[in-house]
Amino acid sequence: MNIRPVTQRIRGMATSDGAGVKLTRVIGSPQLMDLDPFLMLDEFGTDRPEDYIAGFPDHPHRGFETVTYMLDGRMRHRDNHGNSGLLVPGSVQWMSAGRGLVHSEMPEQEHGRMRGFQLWINLPARLKMSAPRYQEYGPEQIPVVDVAPGARVKIIAGEVAGVRGPIDQPATAPVYLDLLLEQGASFSQTLPAGHSAFLYVYEGALAVGGESNTTPVVAQQLAVLGRGDTVVVSATAAGTRAILVAGHPLREPVARYGPFVMNTREEIMQAVEDLRAGRF
Ligand code: CO
Repeated sequence: MNIRPVTQRIRGMATSDGAGVKLTRVIGSPQLMDLDPFLMLDEFGTDRPEDYIAGFPDHPHRGFETVTYMLDGRMRHRDNHGNSGLLVPGSVQWMSAGRGLVHSEMPEQEHGRMRGFQLWINLPARLKMSAPRYQEYGPEQIPVVDVAPGARVKIIAGEVAGVRGPIDQPATAPVYLDLLLEQGASFSQTLPAGHSAFLYVYEGALAVGGESNTTPVVAQQLAVLGRGDTVVVSATAAGTRAILVAGHPLREPVARYGPFVMNTREEIMQAVEDLRAGRF
């Protein structure tokens, strides 16, 4: 067993996006521009409607995937191809934008808590212009496994203790786990050795790594995991919650302009032109 060490710890940066939604950008900020194949991670979490009520009105995407995981609150999405759906607490929407769509993501509530994550995952060149695709699952469709006393894992993507999460994406073979650990509880997970991987603690605190070499990671910190195969964590605070995310790096050139992520500048210019011409 080769335990993955923490190579970098970062805190997100407060920002706003959409029509003024307040959020914390954890990947995609100057401290961590990307972690191939991950292009962006936003955490949104607030009890104040004025922080989220304006939502994310119509905007385009091309060339990558957006993954929305709701913890609290309800969000309605609608795109220009006639797809729509409601994200409820505990649900996940894994959207492959492919060659493009225009959609809105709007809160379907006027008060109460809104909390969750949006992760952007790159697509390889051969899939950037594929047809848009949705994988959407409610909380009852996402398996939860008690892996050890006080350690519960919700499996959105990847496999834990022989149980597979519902998401299918061979291009990056993603792992996306939501961990809930009581104080003192431990969890270990083997990941493909070549995968990029990170942990983001959103409540409580973790000690990450093997016995002789652990790194503390506290709430609102992201830990980039280095080379190795196995991730080992134990909770050092009550009710610790974290996401563990990993994926196969694409190692392709990235040309990025707002909601378009392609391989070349020419493809970005084509995306701008296609949007203008109504070809999304
Ligand atoms: Co969007």
